[in-house]
Amino acid sequence: TGLVTVDPGFMNTAACESSITYIDGDAGILRYRGYPIEQLAEKSTFLEVAYLLIHGELPSDELLNALNNRVARHMHVHEGIKSFLEAFPRDAHPMAVLAGATSALSTFYPESVGRDEPEIELATVQLLAKTATVIAYLQRRVTGGELIEPRKGGAYVDEFMRIGFSGADGELDIDPTIRRALDLLLILHADHEQNCSTSTVRIVGSSQANIYAAVSAGIGALSGPLHGGANEAALSMFDKIKADGDTVEQFVAKVKDKAEGARLMGFGHRVYKSYDPRGAVVKNVANSVLSELGGNDETFQMAQELEEIALSDEYFIERKLYPNVDFYTGLLYSAMGFPRQMFTPLFALGRMPGWIAHYREMMDDPRTKIGRPRQIYTGEVERDYVAIDQR
Ligand code: CMC
Repeated sequence: TGLVTVDPGFMNTAACESSITYIDGDAGILRYRGYPIEQLAEKSTFLEVAYLLIHGELPSDELLNALNNRVARHMHVHEGIKSFLEAFPRDAHPMAVLAGATSALSTFYPESVGRDEPEIELATVQLLAKTATVIAYLQRRVTGGELIEPRKGGAYVDEFMRIGFSGADGELDIDPTIRRALDLLLILHADHEQNCSTSTVRIVGSSQANIYAAVSAGIGALSGPLHGGANEAALSMFDKIKADGDTVEQFVAKVKDKAEGARLMGFGHRVYKSYDPRGAVVKNVANSVLSELGGNDETFQMAQELEEIALSDEYFIERKLYPNVDFYTGLLYSAMGFPRQMFTPLFALGRMPGWIAHYREMMDDPRTKIGRPRQIYTGEVERDYVAIDQR
């Protein structure tokens, strides 16, 4: 067939051109539509960043208000979706339920399933709004609370927190430190060019499957411990080190030995061969939030020691392994009151604008073709069928 190269993990294959996010992995640079992540993290808000990623420019005050209002109006979910969420076992992992619920949204809102401009605009708002409510409901399921109704007109992050955390009376006094930290974490996760889940969204969308199906597949990809699941895995790793009574040096030695198959979760990246710029922001925020809110100090201390030892160890130096965004986020989410199973759904909430932006970019690109990689066949040559009694 003339195929001569195979590229496992697409180490060296560009599947598309994109003008959404720029990464320089050697220099540790990340920009959304040209804007440095550090500036957006400091000055922007999540829905503003969502608008930027999806539409290419920062919105005017009027456009941002319109988006805020539209999203707030669509946060209600159909009763059927609520029943769907209630049908799973209480201890079901929320990522599995979220993937199912996201795909199911298309069946409740068929008017947003097509690929014309008004339909895709509606689907964009529905996905931003309704997955936030679904994730907040999943949080209530984990903590044992009844599902409460969204209120029209609330700010996005506030409403998400209220639906997730309030008592049965629906009231919640949100700590401004937590509100700001959550907004910032969502911004940091909002896009990361052709990562595993976004590539999944694009490949599913390339068959002209609807955006809900594509995003649902992306959520499945994100759930894995090598991708978004790493935030939960990193916190479990810190706990295991403590439970095993290991020193951080002993744990690093086990990782280097590779015998137990343990990796340093929250470390390493396909593209960054220097400090992940998102990780650097998260570490700073974790520092200030933990000192303000208290809690997790001992684990934070251990994580920092782990980082320090790894960064001065030959194994990590020669492989250019640095902390990525997931190394400190779990600690932070946990200090903010989120249960561990909710860490990866929070990543999904943040990544939603990126998935939407890439789906739309792919759909608008006349060069898009169905994603269909080839292979190099290594199986048997032609042979004749053998009857069962002769095998
Ligand atoms: N701990 C120990 N060794 C590692 C690690 C790690 N976290 N990451 C990579 N290595 C080693 C790996 O064993 C290999 O060594 P050798 O050359 O001796 O075989 C070398 O470094 C290259 O690793 P790789 O697996 O070929 O690199 P990759 O680009 O295919 O994988 C990665 C990237 C992120 C999957 C990997 O670094 C990893 O498994 N990290 C831990 C999981 C994690 O934190 N994932 C979150 C990524 S960032 C946010 C996101 O995308 O969701």
